[in-house]
Order: sequence, then C-alpha cells, then structure tokens
Amino acid sequence: MPIKYVPYYPETIEGQAILNNVTRTQRVLRYRDNNKVHDHIRRGMPYYELEKIERVGNNSENMLIRGECISACAYLKDKGIKVDLVYIDPPFASGADYAKKIYLRRNPKLAEKIAKAEEELDIEEFRIFEEKMYGDIWNKEDYLNWMYENLMAIKSVMSEIGSIYVHLDWHIGHYVKVLMDEVFGEDNFKNEIIYGYRIQGINQNCWPRKHDVLFYYSLSDDSVFNPEKEIVIYEKPFIDTKVTSPDLSKLTDKDIIKISKSLEDKVTLPDKYKKMLFNNYYSEVFVRDVWDSDYTKPIISGSGEYLNYKTQKSEGLLIRIIKSSSSENMIVADFFGGSGVTAKVANDLNRKFIHVDVGINSIQTTRDRLIATGAEFDIYDIKDGVSLFRNPIQTMDKLKSLIKGLNAEPTLDSFWIGAINDSKIGLVPVYVPNLLDNGTKVLDIPMINSIINGAIPDLPDSVKKVIIYYVDIENEKDLNKFINDYNKTDMQIELRDLKEILDEAVINDEVDYELKKINNRFEIEFKSFISDRLIQNIDAYNQKKLLNSSISNLFNESIEGDGENGDVTKNKKPFKPIEISESGLELIELISLDCSNFSGVWKSDIELKIDKNGFIILNGKKTKELWNGKIISDKKPLRMKVRNIAGDESIIIF
Ligand SMILES: C[S@@+](CC[C@H](N)C(=O)[O-])C[C@H]1O[C@@H](n2cnc3c(N)ncnc32)[C@H](O)[C@@H]1O
Repeated sequence: MPIKYVPYYPETIEGQAILNNVTRTQRVLRYRDNNKVHDHIRRGMPYYELEKIERVGNNSENMLIRGECISACAYLKDKGIKVDLVYIDPPFASGADYAKKIYLRRNPKLAEKIAKAEEELDIEEFRIFEEKMYGDIWNKEDYLNWMYENLMAIKSVMSEIGSIYVHLDWHIGHYVKVLMDEVFGEDNFKNEIIYGYRIQGINQNCWPRKHDVLFYYSLSDDSVFNPEKEIVIYEKPFIDTKVTSPDLSKLTDKDIIKISKSLEDKVTLPDKYKKMLFNNYYSEVFVRDVWDSDYTKPIISGSGEYLNYKTQKSEGLLIRIIKSSSSENMIVADFFGGSGVTAKVANDLNRKFIHVDVGINSIQTTRDRLIATGAEFDIYDIKDGVSLFRNPIQTMDKLKSLIKGLNAEPTLDSFWIGAINDSKIGLVPVYVPNLLDNGTKVLDIPMINSIINGAIPDLPDSVKKVIIYYVDIENEKDLNKFINDYNKTDMQIELRDLKEILDEAVINDEVDYELKKINNRFEIEFKSFISDRLIQNIDAYNQKKLLNSSISNLFNESIEGDGENGDVTKNKKPFKPIEISESGLELIELISLDCSNFSGVWKSDIELKIDKNGFIILNGKKTKELWNGKIISDKKPLRMKVRNIAGDESIIIF
C-alpha cells in the first residue's frame, strides 16, 4: 500500500471545450457512468517510499527516478520540490509495443573464433534479439483517464511560473488538448507546435502523417520565454535604403532563399550568401511554430545521438524548448524520460533536471548517457509494491507464464487475462491489474464494485468462481465485507496477492570470477556468466523466429511456380538461432566496482561498459580497446555490480 496519498492540484481550471460524452461535475471531468478518475483525484496521488540506490558525483539536486509519473509527483509535492519546465513525450496510444534491440557482446574468450567467423559471414544477425520495452496499446477512454491523472499530478508540482510542453501526435493529441485546457487553463494555452519530419509515417491512403504536435502552456505572464531567432535570407535586399527602415511588404515568400537555424549559422554560409548578408539581404525573425528544420529533426538509427531507444527524440528539439522556456539553474523535468534527452540537454545548458521513467532500460540508458557527459545526480527507486521485471510490459508477459494453469480464453472479454480450467468446477476466469496503468493497482471498493456489478454479470452462467489478483489492497477486511454484502450471486471471489508470484520471477544471474592482487592493483577476471532470465528470453525468441521462418518457407513452397513466368519465389535464408557460449561472457554489458561501501547507496569508483561492438567505455569515456574479460582497480573493491545486456543487475559483495 502507498504510505499515504498526497493531494493532487486542488482544482482544475475550466476549459471551454467539452466533449459530447463528458460532463463536468464538481469541476472534474468525468465520463458518463465512470467515477474512477474522480475517485482517484479525490483520494490523492499514491506516495510510496523512495530508495536512493546510487549517487553519481556530489550534486543531490538532479534526480533519476525509476517509477511512475504519478508516484514521482507525489514525492516531489510532499517534499515541496517545484519544477519550472516540463517536457513530456508520453506513450501516444499508438497501438504498438516498442521493442529494444539487444546485442550480444563479443566474448573475450572466443575472440579468435569470432574474428574468423566475421571474415566469413555477416555475424550481426546472429547476435541481435529483441525485448519488449513498453506497450502503447490502450482503449481511448482508459488512456484519457490515465492521462488526466498524470496531467493533474504534473500540474501539482509545477511552479507558479512553470511551462509545459506535451508531445503527441494524430492518434490522441486532439483529445489531450481538451484535457490540457481543463487542467492548465485554456487561457494559459500558448501554442500548438507542429513538429514535422520526412522519415516514417508512410501511408498510402491519405496524406502521409509526418508531423507530431507539441501543446505548449505556461502558467503566468512571468513564465520564461526567450524566443529563438533565425535568419531569413532573401533574393533581393531586405532594407530599402531610401526609406532606411525595413520594408517587408516588398518581399514575398518566393524571395526567401534560405532559412538558417540561428545567427551562429551565418559563419557556415557559402560565400555567395555571406556577401548577401553584408548587403542587407537578410532579416532576423522569431522561429515560427512549424519546426521542420535540420536543427530539430528526428534522429535516425545511424546518427551519433542514437542510443538504441525507440521513440528517442533529438537533442536539437530539446535545446530549442529548454533554451526558450527556462533560465539557468531552473528545474526541468521529464516524467516519461525514455533515453534521457531532456536530462542530458538540461544539464548541458546548466539547468537542474528530474528524469522519471518506469522502465529499467530508460534509467540505465539515461544514467550512462549522463555519466558520459560528466553530469552529477542521484538515482532513486520508487518502492511501489511490485518488483518489476525490467518494465511493466515484460512483467505482464512474465505473469501469464507464472500463474499455474492459466490459458488464454477467447470466450471471455479482455477484462480477464485468461482462465484456469479446474477439473471440478470448470472455467475459472482470472483478473490481473494492468501494471501499465497505476489506476488499477490498488484493489479498493470502487474496483471490486465494478467487478461485481460490471464484469461478473457478463460471464457465462457456468462460471462458479473467479480469481482476482491485486498488487495493493486498500483494506482487506472492509473489502471482504463489501463482497459478502453486495455479491448477490453464488460466484466465489478469491483474492490473491500478485507480489507472491512476482517474487518467484526473479532469479539472479550467476557470476564466476577470480579476484587477484597484482602489484598493488586489484584484477577481476571473469570466468563465466549464467543468466537464466536471458537464456529463457533468448529461447523464447528463437522459438518464435523458427516458427515464423518455417511458416513462411511453407508458404513460399506452396506458391512456387515453374519459373517460366519469373514466378519462382526465392526462399528466405532460414533463421539461425541465437546461441550462447558456455562461458556466457557475451551477455555482460557493464561492470561497476564500488570501493567505498559494502552496502547502501551505490558509488561507482570504476566502471567498464562494453559497447555493442565489443569496445570498452571506461568511466563514461569511449576507448578503442576491445574487452579482455577483466576489470582492474587501484583501490580495493568492496562490491561489484554486473549488468547483463537486457539490464538485469546482480551485486556481488567481496
Ligand atoms: C515515447 S517514450 C519517451 C521517449 C523520450 N522522449 C526520449 O526522447 O527518449 C515514453 C516513455 O514513457 C515511459 N512510461 C510509460 N508509462 C509511464 C508512466 N506511467 N510513468 C513514467 N514513465 C512511463 C516508457 O517507459 C517510455 O520510456
């Protein structure tokens, strides 16, 4: 259970636009027949204990928080921490699951063999697999309920002069604009920015969807706004020398020959343009609200900025937002921080930062990214009751395999995760809270009421029992009394604690190493690394790929012709399963030594990361050295952390 509930921002500011299916009651938006959001807002934001897990450098003001946006806001509000600028790029309700490519590293014990294999074949495809990172599949109402609570939580921690940018797209953006008017005030809406790009978004049936939207609100006339300027260069002189003042009326859009990113760009212009500049062929204008220049454009996978984080945004975009809407030393927060672009840029521009995300990959990617730039910060874990397996979506997947006897049951609606077939009483439907949606985590009276009066009556008459899993339960005694009083059917309702099965899910990796003291230095040599968690996921990946490849080969065979009409289908290369060596050293991504403490907050005195090509990044600095299977320290290590390529961490105390 949360330790307490922290009040949300007390009241919404009424926006004018009201959707047809939304009525305003007690100044809170609510959907017809659905009090869930209203009840949650009234109850407050769940405040859980925060554990500081690592300190990087000495600055304790910058924070990386692993946990949900709402719980992070509860903490900040309770501690009186206010943020001056918020950028969020939340899930867009895009209907997609986002996966991360995981690269097996080079095994130093097999270096020679690998070099030979590389000469002969394309090794890339044998060492990459994918893992789900976060899910973005929602029904619209659930998404908007969830978003409304998040926006209310964020508003609760914004300073009086705060500004917020919410990054969305065509999927759900227009609905969220209405919510934002309600939460932040229609009068505080400043503009909608069109963030255009050329890549992706190909659609044959309509105009290609090649822009995102950013809704920008600021809470006061004193909110910071230093608009960026750019240079517009024209074909003919910009200043009319006769009237000595700029005469824009004589210029048309056709006369514009180039728009440069900023004043600094002048120096990089070709000679021809430079001459024009001296001859008053240019003007300085404020950047308009359509952002599609090279400066802000999305990063692509080959670019130096790309950190293998799907949906990662460009630093140029964040530089523009942070420079224009905050001043040095202000606090900039991103509550759906992903790859850490906001934190990185904020730090570069001398702002303080707060990065929040539910996924372990986000926290690790951001941590490593910030370490490489020399930033200082603390890392916290929100202890919200579920020890997540990497991220909510992978935890949800894992759960399905941990509930004994659970099968998918197409005859039930999506409220039920599946059913157990009991030999005596038949089908037993099972409900598991959606770990992607904070609102369903606490089993309380409104929730059980909606199960008794909503979900259960829709079940077939033959069902005699249901199982309801919970992460947190508000008051078990009251809840059972409520069930007794209001469950008028014969249906047996069994409540089960989800944490008990989740605890079984985590098996630690096994590290075999030798620690030696050589000439006053400490050397750790790795012998083997066994990760059941990774092996299981790689096995599942191999099986899925093998199945897909044999289905597609079958299909190809069946449509193969005689070749005369050019209809011979070339069979795809058969899938070659990913194999792990006996020593498993290719599964290690990072080794960190703490030479200061045996327990408590982690302090990395020396750390070695192996990049996807096998090169070492030592204390955040890239090197050209391949990993040799060792780590050396001048100081005596007290404990060691080993991170595997999917992000699971194991700690060894010497
Ligand atoms: C679109 S991505 C953000 C990408 C980021 N702007 C970047 O440039 O890398 C959305 C992120 O929200 C995170 N997320 C999803 N639900 C969340 C929640 N309730 N609280 C905090 N983070 C959440 C996901 O793990 C994911 O990293």
